[in-house]
Amino acid sequence: MRSPRVLAAGLMLVAGVTIVAACSSGSSTPAAPAGDAVLVEGQKAYSQNCAGCHGAAGGGAYGRKLAGVVTVKYPNIDDQIALITNGKGAMPSFSKKLTADQITAVTRYTREVLVAK
Ligand code: HEC
Repeated sequence: MRSPRVLAAGLMLVAGVTIVAACSSGSSTPAAPAGDAVLVEGQKAYSQNCAGCHGAAGGGAYGRKLAGVVTVKYPNIDDQIALITNGKGAMPSFSKKLTADQITAVTRYTREVLVAK
């Protein structure tokens, strides 16, 4: 017979795995146009690295709202690329985690696919 303690530990494990799966799931990020390889790469990088803080659709959570904001705030895409590369305050630097091409791709994704509702 199983002890209640083992059962409780098992349930906690299942709950933990479910939470981790929900947090890292990128399925709810808005789809990039399938024909644009850079934006598809950008969506992947966004769902894996950014959605947890900025929301799946860029609506903001712990991190700021991005959807519809970034093109206004950073008219020059290079300024936004620099911020994501170097970080700012509680926003982590991605210079070691992502390649320059991935940073450009994720920046384009936030500008061209994540649009304000
Ligand atoms: C740990 C949480 C966290 C993660 C992960 C994160 N960010 Fe941020 N981000 C923030 C916070 C907090 C700010 C606000 C920084 C400030 O201005 O002090 C921010 C700011 C930004 C800004 C500037 C917004 C503005 O209004 O000026 C952009 C653009 C941005 N993040 C993009 C990204 C991208 C792209 C990724 C993934 C590659 C990402 N962030 C990952 C927390 C995060």
